Amino acid sequence: MQVFYDKNSFTEYIKSQKHQHKTIGFAPTMGALHAGHISLYQEAKKDNDIVVSSIFVNPTQFNNPEDLEKYPRTMEDDIRKLEDSNLVDAVYIPSIEDIYPNGMERQHYDFGGIENEMEGAARPGHFDGVGTVVEELFLQVQPDNAYFGEKDFQQLKIIEKLVEVSNLKIKIHGVKIHREENGLAMSSRNMRLSEIEKETSALIYKTLKKVNDWFKVISVPEIKSRVEEIFDRDDMELEYFLIADEETLKEVDFFSEDKDFRTFIVVNVGNVRLIDNLHLD
Ligand code: PAF
Repeated sequence: MQVFYDKNSFTEYIKSQKHQHKTIGFAPTMGALHAGHISLYQEAKKDNDIVVSSIFVNPTQFNNPEDLEKYPRTMEDDIRKLEDSNLVDAVYIPSIEDIYPNGMERQHYDFGGIENEMEGAARPGHFDGVGTVVEELFLQVQPDNAYFGEKDFQQLKIIEKLVEVSNLKIKIHGVKIHREENGLAMSSRNMRLSEIEKETSALIYKTLKKVNDWFKVISVPEIKSRVEEIFDRDDMELEYFLIADEETLKEVDFFSEDKDFRTFIVVNVGNVRLIDNLHLD
């Protein structure tokens, strides 16, 4: 595996791969790698000649400076995990200047409204920051295919819109959520949970599965009040829970046969913000 710490050498590498007509599968990350990231590379390996990843903690997508500061940074460990996976051909670890040569500005995007729902409402500017960094990485990596986890389902939808509005010829692939044995969705943030918190956080996925059982049997307001009751406890704080149309990501308060629905949840455990979702079937 080749490791690139600057844009110039990385650009030369990409040029030579393109020259050899190699197809490129790309999975961007912010590091603190876990089995969920490895599953992105496994998917990428199936469809492409080479697999490229990046590690860059992107300041412009954090609306909360404390969250940015606390974001886990485990570079040596990450590089070892990438090597051990035997799935990744090259990893790009750019500097701030490689991504933001003209200063750390977010671009403003119109993603047709999905950017204002859920995480967009809770974290103003977040998706402009994600769009800015992912568009720049796409321009530098020039992938044929790019892979994103469904844990950040709204982000996945935003990236699908990004390639549409920016006219990029990249196929976006969503990859199923990778879970701990107890059901907790894998996330870099889980590193900040104590063992007890990890155990209690299993309640999040358990609840989403219950919602799937209740789906179409009881009304949405009734489901919401049951979920609020479940999280009426001292060791967790329910930030939001909702059921949304999977296409528009708009919250619904009743179901219809002709649409797909997904349930979304954010729970704060200590000072760790955990996010999860589940397609309802
Ligand atoms: O999902 C992430 O890790 C980040 O939002 C991404 C896509 C790497 C952009 O910084």
